[in-house]
Amino acid sequence: MSGTRLPGHGLERGRRIEFVLDGVPAEAYEGETVSAAVMADRDLGLRTTERAQPRGYFCGMGVCFDCVMVVDGVPNTRTCVTWVREGMTVEHQDGAGPAGAPRAPRH
Ligand code: FES
Repeated sequence: MSGTRLPGHGLERGRRIEFVLDGVPAEAYEGETVSAAVMADRDLGLRTTERAQPRGYFCGMGVCFDCVMVVDGVPNTRTCVTWVREGMTVEHQDGAGPAGAPRAPRH
């Protein structure tokens, strides 16, 4: 068990799996959302806005879009309503694309 997950407490976790977070192997358990897995393994920040403001988990039910990340190459994936899967690739999102990608000019 890694990151900030709590041990014990009578929780039954799904099977341990691995996904790739920003190019680095990360741990998750089947039945976790992508956002839960990212926050438990690494940190609370999930994306930054076009104005470089940090955002994370807010509504937890697919409404606010604050949790969007790039999942398997697809930007703007709401990670609070997406189940983590074995081998999935997840990237922090910067603006409308992956962190570190060139930004489109603002008008
Ligand atoms: S946290 Fe609001 S859409 Fe995911």
